[in-house]
Amino acid sequence: MEKKITVLPGDGIGPEIVAEAVKVMDRVAARFGHHFSYTYVDIGGCSIDRHGVPITEEGMALCKGADSVLLGAVGGPKWDSCPAEIRPEKALLAVRKELGLFANLRPTRLFPQLASASPLKQEIVGQGIDLMIVRELTGGVYFGARKTEEVNGELVATDLMPYSEHEIERIGRVAFETAMKRGKKLASVDKANVLETSRLWRKTMHRLAEEYPEVEYSDILVDNTAMQLIKNPVQFDVLVTENMFGDILSDEASMLTGSIGMMPSASLSSGTLGMYEPIHGSAPDIAGQNRANPIGTILSAAMMLRYSFDLAQEADAIEEAVNRVLNEGWRTGDIMQEGCKKASCSEMGDLIAGKI
Ligand code: IPM
Ligand code: MG
Repeated sequence: MEKKITVLPGDGIGPEIVAEAVKVMDRVAARFGHHFSYTYVDIGGCSIDRHGVPITEEGMALCKGADSVLLGAVGGPKWDSCPAEIRPEKALLAVRKELGLFANLRPTRLFPQLASASPLKQEIVGQGIDLMIVRELTGGVYFGARKTEEVNGELVATDLMPYSEHEIERIGRVAFETAMKRGKKLASVDKANVLETSRLWRKTMHRLAEEYPEVEYSDILVDNTAMQLIKNPVQFDVLVTENMFGDILSDEASMLTGSIGMMPSASLSSGTLGMYEPIHGSAPDIAGQNRANPIGTILSAAMMLRYSFDLAQEADAIEEAVNRVLNEGWRTGDIMQEGCKKASCSEMGDLIAGKI
């Protein structure tokens, strides 16, 4: 199989973790007889520094024309004072929107070897964590109109949170289909006791639920979800929610996996084009030190093979390689446990590639 991948290393630890994912993909290509070619594009702060914008038009076109996109991370304190229009994050949101990546899958899985690396007690995570967060990615407050204006002598800021039925329905379908392939249990997270968008969300989900009688469906309020994720996470199989709730809950859920450095994600469109990225940020405090955990990015590459290229066996091979390296006691700093061996970012990539 021949595939063109646009690679967006980005800022901070982005280039380091992406290099390890590419290393693993190259190993997969050699082992299974594929050819992956990579085109590198600047995104985020590094693009602002070099081109004056967080992503160039040519860069965006290279994302659109690719078979899939691999991203590291964007942002950092250096660009915090940039005007809203050219902030690093703006490029990430623009790519999501322009590529139509409305469905963000964030699998939250605890490798059993890491149970004691999670800040949660053994009795909570010890039974194993395996849930899937399905986050709506191109709507809601992230993309609604915003403004700051002067009213009665003071500044008033507004961010609108619009959701249309078709946006809710298409993410709902992804969630129900995902649940059908997993434990057939779906919880839809909203704030229907307060928000109008959540009431439309709930109504639309209920309509869909009738089409999927095999799925055990429930509604849950977002504040309660935040509590239940810590109190009793094993009750969940698939969670579906709007953009901002999904952003917040997925960071929370990442702690169930031991470290946010472990969590991959896939952002999918209605076709096969997708963008794959770890859910964590650019970690400027450890950038350039070869200390970052590349596993979230490597597992994101596995998701690319599975979802965009339909290469399930190859994806399994990456996940199994991660499992075996963890079994052998190798850990990056963020998941270090007593009696384990410390690996740098590039060593972790070498170890995983070596198991393919
Ligand atoms: C994420 C990130 C992004 C988001 C930021 C960097 C804009 O936090 O992918 O979760 O909020 O979606
Ligand atoms: Mg986030």
